[in-house]
Amino acid sequence: MVRKSVGGCWSGKDDPRKFVAGIPETVPRARSLKQLFEAMACCTRCDLALERTQVVPGVGPARARVMLIGEAPGAREDLAGVPFIGAGGRLLDQLLERGGVNRAEVFVTNVAACRPPGNRAPLPKEIAAHAPWLEEQIRLVKPDVITTLGRVPLTYFIPKAKITQLHGQVQHIERDGRATLLLPTYHPAAALRNRELIPDMENDFRELVKLLEG
Ligand code: URA
Repeated sequence: MVRKSVGGCWSGKDDPRKFVAGIPETVPRARSLKQLFEAMACCTRCDLALERTQVVPGVGPARARVMLIGEAPGAREDLAGVPFIGAGGRLLDQLLERGGVNRAEVFVTNVAACRPPGNRAPLPKEIAAHAPWLEEQIRLVKPDVITTLGRVPLTYFIPKAKITQLHGQVQHIERDGRATLLLPTYHPAAALRNRELIPDMENDFRELVKLLEG
């Protein structure tokens, strides 16, 4: 197991130190992703903390034109502390490459930074507890385009939206006073289960490239 060293706080289920629930009560504004992720590693704001190995922060350049947002870490990600490294992540990398998206321009993160038990979807109260961490990542990275992967991150931004209707179509949102484009696509795990979604995802990523070039 690779558990990242996180200094002086309880980090996850294998940590023998004392667990204290509900911290931090308020997520502080961070000056950098490094500072944000140090605080995030200690988070016990919801019960997902109890079963995680560690918090899985986002990964990518400190300023990125594209932010991909998934649902929550799976088993592989929970062990490694890095998002999208399992089968879904490998498919995502292939689709980005085929769509012509430059991986170096992409920051990848999740709505929830801790693994839900049994890979279930995060509950609304868990999403609410994690939201300030996600919003801080968006504020610091300042993406021009956010691509949501699947229903959970899409409905985080646009409640009740249907992925089948909105995938590949540009939506306009505002974050921290900044106009930001939202381009939804499917979750790679859904495409692993239903290969017919793969051409749609490739097209959606081509749309993303057009947006970046436009
Ligand atoms: N699925 C997600 O939504 N995120 C990950 O990081 C891995 C799998």
